[in-house]
Amino acid sequence: MAKVLVVGGGGREHAIVHALSKSKKVEKIFAAPGNAGIQNLAECLNIKDTEVDKIVDFAKANQIDLVVVGPEASLALGIIDALRAAGIKAFGPNKAAAQIEASKNFAKDLMSKYNIPTARYEVFTDYNEALEYVKISPIPTVIKYDGLAAGKGVVVAMTLEEADNALKDMLLDDKFGHGKVVIEEYLEGPEFSFMCFVNGENVYPLEMAQDHKRAYDNDLGPNTGGMGAYSPLPFITKEDYEYALNEIMIPTAKAMVMDGCPFTGVLYGGLMKTKKGIKVIEFNARFGDPETEVVLPRLTSDIYDAFVAICDGKEPVLTWDNKYTIGIVLASKGYPGDYKKGYVILGADKENIYHMGTKRNEKGELVTNGGRVLFAVASGDTLEDANKKANELVETIKCENLFHRTDIGAKAYRK
Ligand code: AMP
Ligand code: GLY
Repeated sequence: MAKVLVVGGGGREHAIVHALSKSKKVEKIFAAPGNAGIQNLAECLNIKDTEVDKIVDFAKANQIDLVVVGPEASLALGIIDALRAAGIKAFGPNKAAAQIEASKNFAKDLMSKYNIPTARYEVFTDYNEALEYVKISPIPTVIKYDGLAAGKGVVVAMTLEEADNALKDMLLDDKFGHGKVVIEEYLEGPEFSFMCFVNGENVYPLEMAQDHKRAYDNDLGPNTGGMGAYSPLPFITKEDYEYALNEIMIPTAKAMVMDGCPFTGVLYGGLMKTKKGIKVIEFNARFGDPETEVVLPRLTSDIYDAFVAICDGKEPVLTWDNKYTIGIVLASKGYPGDYKKGYVILGADKENIYHMGTKRNEKGELVTNGGRVLFAVASGDTLEDANKKANELVETIKCENLFHRTDIGAKAYRK
């Protein structure tokens, strides 16, 4: 029987811990740091997800059989390299491979070198040169900071002025640190997330999902870290799937091997179905959040075995249910802007509610502790049915400071 440590403390890690808790091979789960929901399934440690040395020490001292890493920040710090150097089995890409997410420039150059379909781009470090380029480019245009910026490093500029402000923030004021920008052709079409287990050249697809980035119903309001997700995707045809797998995900895994930084873990393709075909918007080096919370509940095979198979260079067994699964984020009022924490939540300790940002206060009450707070998941035979059930589940949660979308997945079934 195995002991597993999951690094991270959001809804994604709650879903990973939940899936692991169903494995017959897993005896004990630890989480660093975990959260108030994960606490019901795992022992939460007083170690942050970026405290690499402490995580390695804990794994060694407690003879952990497998470490699964959720957050990109831990991966970009080289947590996998450190764990493997200490002889610990760890699921995720090493620091070199994690660049596919941590550096937009790295990802774009790789795609360009290996003809992987993506938006046209140029890279700049000089503000004036970048501004001159934007002036001769079509508007809208897209400006991306070359580094991790907690989801805030991408500006889709609808006017020259917006583009100029983004360039000033990123190149003159160094808002996210000193850096480079990628200026990219604006693409249009539905976006979707294609996560694959990857081990070197081998690619094992997970079921696809779609995130909903805007804060309010009908895709209105500001961009967020994601307000809900569903899986599978009716708008993706068999041809789309084959194309995404054979022309994007497999060639990318091969490209990483050829460039000397083979990828192990979950490669996340953020793809867009444009009129001119499917193109890459971004790659992530980890499970998506909140996509993972609707994809993993559909897995009917053992996830521990699958993680170990990927780490050992073997083929994982992946089987899925054929239901539609929808998840709705309950976020703090004000999110993605300023919000207050500490509001009491009732009715959230249920198996199909993942905790994204919660904690227990001194009285032991569950309280809000982040922008995105909870994720309510339901499945059904149709998307509409799943949406209805997920909304009903949301109604069983009582908290005065939360809001949510009611239309997750609705574009796919509303005419
Ligand atoms: P990223 O962090 O690269 O995924 O970008 C965040 C969001 O910005 C994406 O989910 C898209 O909605 C949007 N975006 C990024 N690149 C483009 C592009 N080339 N064209 C249109 N929208 C984009
Ligand atoms: N849901 C988008 C992400 O995980 O980056």
